[in-house]
Amino acid sequence: MRVLVFGATGLLGKALTPRWSADEVTGLSSRDADIRNPHRVQELVQQQRPDWIVLAAAYTDVDGCESNRELAFAVNRDGVVNVGKAAESVGARLLFLSSYYVFDGTKTTPYEVSDPRNPQSIYGKTKAEAEIRLLELNPKFCLVRTSWLFGSGGKCFPDTILRLAASRPALDVVDDQRGCPTYADDLADTIIRLCHKNASGIVHATNTGDCTWFEFAQRIVAIAGMNTQVRPVSTQQMARSATRPPYSVLSPKSLHSLGIEMPSWQDALARYMRQRSQPS
Ligand SMILES: NC(=O)c1ccc[n+]([C@@H]2O[C@H](COP(=O)([O-])OP(=O)(O)OC[C@H]3O[C@@H](n4cnc5c(N)ncnc54)[C@H](OP(=O)(O)O)[C@@H]3O)[C@@H](O)[C@H]2O)c1
Repeated sequence: MRVLVFGATGLLGKALTPRWSADEVTGLSSRDADIRNPHRVQELVQQQRPDWIVLAAAYTDVDGCESNRELAFAVNRDGVVNVGKAAESVGARLLFLSSYYVFDGTKTTPYEVSDPRNPQSIYGKTKAEAEIRLLELNPKFCLVRTSWLFGSGGKCFPDTILRLAASRPALDVVDDQRGCPTYADDLADTIIRLCHKNASGIVHATNTGDCTWFEFAQRIVAIAGMNTQVRPVSTQQMARSATRPPYSVLSPKSLHSLGIEMPSWQDALARYMRQRSQPS
């Protein structure tokens, strides 16, 4: 099977391409192909003729999207449509990475794939519109919503907490946003399995279980054996430009129906912490 990965230089992409050894995988950076350029995207897809395209490329700065609205829609919606059209032109399957930000976060039970979108941020709106446009192009495209990614290939909450904990006696961390931390390595394994299973439609893929950012930080500091105090604060106390969904737990039912189960976030975090403490 031939696979083309857009966004191979990002946090998820860096976990995905080395793990996908069973197939012929080509990873692309934004320098190889800016997805805003439909001609370049089309040219590359025509050259490569992949069976599957994994679209992990995105403008992921959630607060930056609020002040760079045009760029956000150009990459996260229009760029995605460019890749979708190119996939259609060669009959390739497409797996698109989406986000819990498509929901408003007002539910108190896990979000199902059938729950209505109601994004409250520009980033969420770009992702929601991309989803709708892709499903209009081809309802068999696979849309994978995930959340709270961490890993060694990019911006990583555990790394930030460990760095701050090393230099401060106490850390203030938000305790009124609940979600599912997800290890990029585990999501990468799931994506490979979804492609091998020819998955289609919307799928929610996160590590199992949920917590608040405060609980996540407490666990990180505890595993590291540090004495830094972690203090709970509210979202309001941490003024950010983009609205965060207070509750973003994604139900695993869609994944289970495909026979896939992901490990707990606690297990995933312990593995990540072991991996980062090993000499490279
Ligand atoms: N991180 C999370 O917590 C999270 C949560 C939910 C969903 N997601 C989704 O999961 C996917 C992967 O996220 P990530 O955290 O791995 O992202 P990331 O680390 O920010 O990486 C973004 C990737 O997109 C590429 N990219 C950016 N603009 C591009 C453009 N105009 N054309 C082509 N490529 C472009 C970057 O390429 P260069 O580095 O070469 O510029 C990079 O490879 C994204 O779709 C994101 O929305 C992430």
